[in-house]
Amino acid sequence: MPHLLITGGAGFIGSNFVRYWCDRHPEDHVVVLDALTYAGNRANIADLYEQGKLTFVQGNICDRPLIDRLLREHEIDTVAHFAAESHVDRSILGPEAFIQTNVVGTFTLLEAFRSHYANQQRGRFLHVSTDEVYGSLSPEDPPFSETTAYAPNSPYSASKAGSDHLVRSYFHTYGLPTLITNCSNNYGPYHFPEKLIPLMCINILLGKALPVYGDGQNVRDWLYVEDHCNALDTVISKGKPGQTYNIGGNNEVKNLDLVHLLCQLMDEMAPQLPQRPSQELITFVRDRPGHDRRYAIDATKIKTELGWQPSVTVEEGLRRTVDWYLSHEQWWTPLLSQDYREYYDQVYGATPNS
Ligand code: NAD
Ligand code: TYD
Repeated sequence: MPHLLITGGAGFIGSNFVRYWCDRHPEDHVVVLDALTYAGNRANIADLYEQGKLTFVQGNICDRPLIDRLLREHEIDTVAHFAAESHVDRSILGPEAFIQTNVVGTFTLLEAFRSHYANQQRGRFLHVSTDEVYGSLSPEDPPFSETTAYAPNSPYSASKAGSDHLVRSYFHTYGLPTLITNCSNNYGPYHFPEKLIPLMCINILLGKALPVYGDGQNVRDWLYVEDHCNALDTVISKGKPGQTYNIGGNNEVKNLDLVHLLCQLMDEMAPQLPQRPSQELITFVRDRPGHDRRYAIDATKIKTELGWQPSVTVEEGLRRTVDWYLSHEQWWTPLLSQDYREYYDQVYGATPNS
């Protein structure tokens, strides 16, 4: 019976993964470690905890004695490492936390796992990373493959690149069974409203401006979060230690087109809206510094070697996501706190309709 330690399991992808795992592998022993930063939310997995399906520990991945104890006491064989500072705009405002959690935190976990592994000689360490480590593509470039050179452009992507390099080195130097996945932009339930899709959904519902950076022509490759969880399950069970797998949605969409799609869905699905048609809320704002133009993933390796491919189209995934935000107002309302408003004003400016 596998014993999993899931770091960052109260965040967006982590909580979807915890939910996915408890559903698909109910016999497994699951421990969730999360510091509950602004992005972590107990409510994301509270029902599972209350049903006794997991052990929740509030703590920091930089806390080595805590990690040592959890690995030992729970006889962990599989680490699924999601915990990170994850938002590019916050990394521009304050990069330090990104170095601390993403680099030092990953290093701390690796060191703890190294000494744990020396005793039990079995297990896996899955490091969940991003396609942003590869930098920016122009329209005619081929998508990122596993051999594309790293060229991170934001403090966020640079800190994730640093952590990826550490994980890789622990395979080559110490023989630890590490796996790295580099995934494109995720979306779906439990997504914190600082990111594009939930921010637009909630602003449409509140009748607030929809801030599109620059000319809105930046491209992202969107993957429904459940497909990501399924890919990670596949990598844990079938992936080859020391390997990297790119995960993508084959869904390249320009930001402005995506926002228009969300507006159409909201106009169709929301019973009432303060502003209809909601696309009238679209507002072009100052571009993000160093804004990557295009991300796209070549997911051939995971398809041919492990048999995984995405199953949810962007039209279907966005419909499910809009439906979720419409029916979970009690989840997102408390997130629009004073802290959130201060962050919002810092990034977007305190305009009357913001
Ligand atoms: P998130 O910001 O929603 O969640 C991060 C979680 O980590 C939160 O619950 C937070 O409380 C926790 N955390 C932060 N610092 C911690 C620390 N020091 N110790 C313990 N817990 C800590 O992030 P997400 O979007 O769910 O991303 C999860 C992982 O997936 C990240 O590693 C990210 O780089 C990667 N990723 C994200 C995307 C995306 O589109 N969101 C795409 C590809 C890869
Ligand atoms: P985001 O969700 O922050 O993900 P990432 O920067 O990691 O790709 O942003 C997705 C895209 O949307 C990105 O090109 C930036 C853009 N964007 C906006 O235009 N307006 C916004 O308010 C936000 C948050 C993002």
